[in-house]
Amino acid sequence: MNIRRAKEKDLYKVNAIEQSSFTVEEAGDIDKFKYRLANFPMWFIVAEIEGEVAGAVIGRPMSQRLITDGYYENEDAPEGDALAIINLATDGMYRRKGVGEAMMKYILKAAKESGFASSSLCCKEHLIDYYGKFGYQLIGPSKSEHGGAKWYDMEIVF
Ligand SMILES: CC(C)(COP(=O)(O)OP(=O)(O)OC[C@H]1O[C@@H](n2cnc3c(N)ncnc32)[C@H](O)[C@@H]1OP(=O)(O)O)[C@@H](O)C(=O)NCCC(=O)NCCS
Repeated sequence: MNIRRAKEKDLYKVNAIEQSSFTVEEAGDIDKFKYRLANFPMWFIVAEIEGEVAGAVIGRPMSQRLITDGYYENEDAPEGDALAIINLATDGMYRRKGVGEAMMKYILKAAKESGFASSSLCCKEHLIDYYGKFGYQLIGPSKSEHGGAKWYDMEIVF
């Protein structure tokens, strides 16, 4: 498995994984992925297996500690020392093989090395323990109404 920064040519596969992993309301679209690659290329990471994109994780610097819904949109936001994780998805064919874990460890190590103070994300209830394995702590129910789902705020302070 090769973990690397995304390129323009990866975006259609990243988008296909996203569409098959989330509801229509929750999923990003190709314009969002283009925006994220153009604006936060350092934090748009893919896992490649035998030349195929198997998953992606996307971060975005923010100036507040917890994510609010604007961070999922193509909106300009101030730089900051917290890294929001705004996407994580693995292709159904490659799940439960450690792809998600490898991508999360990669982005967290890079964030720490780049001087970020913390990282946060919003997740569904069944993934609280999964993110706990990487050191994220549950803050509580999120104000996020992204895609009409119920989300929980999690944060890791480096
Ligand atoms: C959540 C998600 C990204 C995890 O990706 P993944 O690549 O399957 O993640 P991992 O392989 O690192 O870990 C998944 C599970 O497989 C287990 N696992 C890892 N390697 C394994 C292996 N070789 N054999 C068996 N199980 C393994 C892990 O322990 C983990 O178990 P847990 O969920 O009980 O803790 C993936 O399920 C997904 O894309 N879901 C849909 C989108 C989504 O919900 N994204 C998160 C939004 S907050």
